Amino acid sequence: MKNIVVLISGRGSNFEAILRASREENWEADGLRIAAVISNRPEALGLEKAREAGIEAVALDHKAYPTREAFEAKLAEAVDRYDPAVIVLAGFMRILTEGFVNRYEGRILNIHPALLPLFPGLDTHRRAIEAGCRVHGSTVHFVSAVLDGGAIIGQSVVKILPSDTPETLAARLLPFEHKIYPRCVRAVALGEVRLEDGCARMTDEVAERLAVLS
Ligand code: GRF
Repeated sequence: MKNIVVLISGRGSNFEAILRASREENWEADGLRIAAVISNRPEALGLEKAREAGIEAVALDHKAYPTREAFEAKLAEAVDRYDPAVIVLAGFMRILTEGFVNRYEGRILNIHPALLPLFPGLDTHRRAIEAGCRVHGSTVHFVSAVLDGGAIIGQSVVKILPSDTPETLAARLLPFEHKIYPRCVRAVALGEVRLEDGCARMTDEVAERLAVLS
């Protein structure tokens, strides 16, 4: 069985979407299972949801560690316990050091709520509206040492309407995050997408599945 470990900090709706897909599509038949959810915030709602679903939920409070490196050493220990094929960052709000990221190169993914390479960083919905963009979206990418800069695996696109606020836009986008993230996680876990020379390699057929135009 290949293990998937999900790292969260908050509500965990992307984790729930991945869990739902894994059950509805019977990922276990393909040898994949979500082994654990780890949160750097003990109060994260997603931990509760994991427990309810019978998935191991681990709280690792970053505030309990004197340095980023000390926290990451513990985090790596917790992650490695599951020997994961894929590590999924789903609303995980800690910047990871190069050392941590390199340790898991090619098997650590993130979802970013913008059409990368546009708008890395925070406050993406407001920035897309203010830039006058007519479309916005979300991007699943391999995590590299550059913040929101790793190779792109999949993207989903939504329209921006003149009446949109950052809140309405975020709400319109979220269901599409929930659509592409499970697809991307599954594709990487099955080896349908690989990181090679800094690029996400996949066939046309896989790429069709991982680009969602609303
Ligand atoms: C999502 O919008 C994701 O794109 C961003 O953080 C948010 C996490 O939401 N990285 P959730 O915790 O998965 O509900």
